[in-house]
Amino acid sequence: LLIRIQRPKNFPPGPEPIPIFGNLFQLNIKNPLKDFERFAERYGTVYSLYIGTRPAVVLTGLKAIKEALVTKSADFSGRPENLLVSHVTEKKGIVMADYGPGWKELRRFDLMTLRNFGMGKQSMEARILGEIEHMVARLDKNVGSTMNPQTLFHDTASNIIYLVLMSTRYDYEDKTLKEYVQMFTEISKIGNGPWGMIYDTLPVVRYLPLPFKRAFTNVKILKQKTADMINKHKMTRVPGQPRDFVDCYLDEIDKEVDGSPFGEMQLVMHLLDLHFAGTDTTANTLLTAFLYLTTHPDVQEKCQQEIDEVLAGKDHASFEDRHNMPYTQAVIHESQRIAKTVPLSVFHCTTRDTELMGYNIPKGTLIIPNLASVLSEEGQWKFPHEFNPLNFLNEQGQFEKPAAFLPFSAGPRTCLGEGLARMELFLVLVMLLRRFQFIWPQDEGAPDFTPVYGITITPKPYKMLLKLRQAAK
Ligand code: HEM
Repeated sequence: LLIRIQRPKNFPPGPEPIPIFGNLFQLNIKNPLKDFERFAERYGTVYSLYIGTRPAVVLTGLKAIKEALVTKSADFSGRPENLLVSHVTEKKGIVMADYGPGWKELRRFDLMTLRNFGMGKQSMEARILGEIEHMVARLDKNVGSTMNPQTLFHDTASNIIYLVLMSTRYDYEDKTLKEYVQMFTEISKIGNGPWGMIYDTLPVVRYLPLPFKRAFTNVKILKQKTADMINKHKMTRVPGQPRDFVDCYLDEIDKEVDGSPFGEMQLVMHLLDLHFAGTDTTANTLLTAFLYLTTHPDVQEKCQQEIDEVLAGKDHASFEDRHNMPYTQAVIHESQRIAKTVPLSVFHCTTRDTELMGYNIPKGTLIIPNLASVLSEEGQWKFPHEFNPLNFLNEQGQFEKPAAFLPFSAGPRTCLGEGLARMELFLVLVMLLRRFQFIWPQDEGAPDFTPVYGITITPKPYKMLLKLRQAAK
């Protein structure tokens, strides 16, 4: 173990590792993004690091990430074996599922089910708009005072995904909802890459009372709760007449196809994955969006003008309205760009010995796509380092999405909730901006834009002052 770590032949270069710990001490575990940037400057867009004794290749910038995740997707779409994950579950859900036929079938099912959610009855859009009504009612109570929107945004995001999965929402005061959200937030803060990787590579730390122990306990509780919810849901189900995602999935299990990846244990982890992936991400993106809207009143006002015009005489927005709202669209995308919500994507892994930009990368190597680097890459953006909606508007004021807009990653593993997330962000932002004015409270001091790092990046807690707009109906 104490032997010097040696890079394989023609492996990407990187900082010198020390025995056992590799490069861990060269990374600020609270926020390694700055270190990642520093290494890229020194070693190039494809470099390697040792997390303990485990080699990892970090991809920086659009070219390297596209080349790996899109052009060579079959080689780069695996997921690492992670003891942290296998410790808490026997069956994988969808996010960490191995790249292969089972994952492919589940993913196709997810995309189709989420897309088809028109299904005559209650569409995804109607579910989101329904939740927004609750959100507005909650915010109405705060008019004239200041509030930290964090809890409300998390509650809303959790409810929306749950409405799609199980046609269920919880009241904002409900204890179960609070528990879900708190556990998700904790997992996101502590279950992230570095901790998972330390756990994987340094067996001795598994016995220490470190933060990831909390993540284990949380996942165990969440699994039980989810299993209970499924059982409850089954009691009111009519086979062949799906009301939601879970019903569709249960219909698949009923088909009893040989070798099918669908199963009840799989469903538990699958739902947990979707619930987790859909809550923290969307909520934190909304938090960043409102942080910038409250501190950039001119941008907020321009959105409101556009929204008022397009929605004149209408009860509510629909996702289709986005085509007539180039400025608001630009602001939402710019918020996503600056938020860098999932900065290092979900880690990938090579599925076979391969080659990237002249280097050899063996099968089973951990791949870390630095999405944050692409979202502020110089040469890709008009204003890479500042909040400016012009990043998404052309000379004619039309909305245009640059190729480096990769907050959802790219290739076959790209976020499968993108459609839902985009609809959610658009409808929430438009409906709230139509009704309320969001103001940075005078006694709050200067805003602090420094993000807090985790699986998802979140802004520092802040408060906003709410006013009802003159034009609001
Ligand atoms: C994967 C971002 C919302 C479900 C991912 C990945 C990213 C991401 C970067 C990793 C892709 C890769 O491995 O290359 C985001 C952002 C969101 C968001 C920024 C919101 C603003 C959602 C929602 C859902 C969801 C609402 C739920 C429906 C998933 C799933 C995966 C994933 C299931 C794993 C896909 C796979 O491994 O095949 N997301 N996501 N995400 N996301 Fe999202």
